[in-house]
Amino acid sequence: MTQPKRRLRSQNWFDNPDHIDMTAIYLERWMNYGVTPEELRSGKPVIGIAQSGSDLTPCNKIHVDLVKRVRDGIRDAGGIPIEFPTHPIFENCKRPTAALDRNLAYLGLVEILYGYPIDGVVLTTGCDKTTPSALMAASTVDIPAIVLSGGPMLDGWHEGKLVGSGTVIWQSRRKLGAGEINEEQFLDAAMGSAPSLGHCNTMGTASTMNAMAEALGMSLTGCAAIPAPYRERGQMAYRTGLRAVELVNEDIRPSQIMTREAFLNAIRINTALGGSTNAQPHLNAMAKHAGVELNTTDWEKHGFDIPLLADVQPAGRWLGERFHRAGGVPAIMWELLQAGKIDGALPTVTGKTVAENLEGRESQDREVIRPYADPLVERAGFLVLKGNLFDFAIMKMSVISDDFRKRFLQVPGKEGIYEGKAVVFNGSEEYHEKINDPSLGIDENTILVIRGAGPKGWPGSAEVVNMQPPDALLAKGIQSLPTIGDGRQSGTADSPSILHASPESAAGGGLAWIRNGDVIRIDFNKGECDLLVDDAELAERRKDGIPPVPADATPWQQIYRERVTQLSDGAIMEGADNFRQISKTPPRH
Ligand code: FES
Ligand code: MG
Repeated sequence: MTQPKRRLRSQNWFDNPDHIDMTAIYLERWMNYGVTPEELRSGKPVIGIAQSGSDLTPCNKIHVDLVKRVRDGIRDAGGIPIEFPTHPIFENCKRPTAALDRNLAYLGLVEILYGYPIDGVVLTTGCDKTTPSALMAASTVDIPAIVLSGGPMLDGWHEGKLVGSGTVIWQSRRKLGAGEINEEQFLDAAMGSAPSLGHCNTMGTASTMNAMAEALGMSLTGCAAIPAPYRERGQMAYRTGLRAVELVNEDIRPSQIMTREAFLNAIRINTALGGSTNAQPHLNAMAKHAGVELNTTDWEKHGFDIPLLADVQPAGRWLGERFHRAGGVPAIMWELLQAGKIDGALPTVTGKTVAENLEGRESQDREVIRPYADPLVERAGFLVLKGNLFDFAIMKMSVISDDFRKRFLQVPGKEGIYEGKAVVFNGSEEYHEKINDPSLGIDENTILVIRGAGPKGWPGSAEVVNMQPPDALLAKGIQSLPTIGDGRQSGTADSPSILHASPESAAGGGLAWIRNGDVIRIDFNKGECDLLVDDAELAERRKDGIPPVPADATPWQQIYRERVTQLSDGAIMEGADNFRQISKTPPRH
């Protein structure tokens, strides 16, 4: 095993002859759990384990056990493991939204990694925001770092059918609205989708972001998709611990791996996976903190033409177990590499290149991971839209149903152009209150708009844009209407929504000026979305001011609102990206 040739940053604490008083203070309290002063002073790498699992983050709870294997790996490789908690982020329960906490977890982790004697870190990830917050922090601090995913839950079953996390909720909600099932059946289906420890078993935001960590080269090959309870998950934890020490010895840092080319690979891999729309703000945020230029147009330029290869819910049929058995993320990457669509020469935390990692990783199940030449959907990436309503918004093309395509994208004589009348809601409370109100006149030609759901407005940006049509339309078999919003939608949703409209209404974006009955034109071919209202009328409406949003309820909400950027920019804390590679300067005594 290679030994570090340089002085490690932890030695600034534990081995400082000029400050024996401080060294003593730093050393004495660590003896409680089996570390010796000699060890700490010997220059053995101290490896932090950023523990994201807890009762409050049940999706990551497997890490509470897995960490034992990580520790074994770190010890066997000659390192010293130091476990510490990260700020909990549970997607399904944090109000008003878990997205509000991503930047808080990021800031907390930056302080820990910077201010404590840590030479390298194992980032335990799972639930949606736990992955991007960890990688954002690792980029800012730039100490050797490796991602250990907790893995998805086992496949969910209900009444003999596969039921996937989140997706079953959106599907059952429509059935409940149409009167096909009752509330008890709704709950049973939801429970069936969660049969074990692990994160969401669909290709929702959790599985997507763990896949993105692997796609970027920040976890061991095959790490993302192993289901949480599988034997291989423990082995992966052990190997990740081993490798964390080697990364310190070899001084391999996130800045060498999370390059622009790596992000472009990730964008392409996200399309082939049918990954979550949330990958857009999260990858943009990670890129900002990594000091990488990643434009909103990169999503369309590099991601749109890639086909959908993973037949996994919500874009496809299967769930995490079968996806893993088919070969998981490496098999998807293998296809893209053979097709010349990703850069195989990039370095990764394995110490090998992307192409070397993928040797022999061909799909074992062509029904689930399709060949590049025979995909599920061609050109399956995010469509990037702009116009007088916003400078940027995205639409996930891989989930658009045949029915929706026929009704909205293939209108004879004007393929790809759609005009509809807007019905607009100020926040999701108003949507829930009014959606079934017949006086709104919602019909097949309505475009549902939601505003006040962006980073500043909500605050945090809410997953509410996938609004379902009123019950009366559902009962008629209309499963979806076009929707537009300045918020997000769940990564598990299968809705054809126009999301992340930036700037948002609360920041004076175009959505603020829409009124019920306005005509909106969407040109899917040109990627344009416009409000057909003349400038004089818009100027008149601006006099009324921006539609109000709820008051700050916590100190963090206030700080967040003052500093957060738009979803197009990853919704980071403005200015935080000025701090980069800060581990180069050790903190003062
Ligand atoms: Fe935590 Fe989906 S809610 S992973
Ligand atoms: Mg979500």
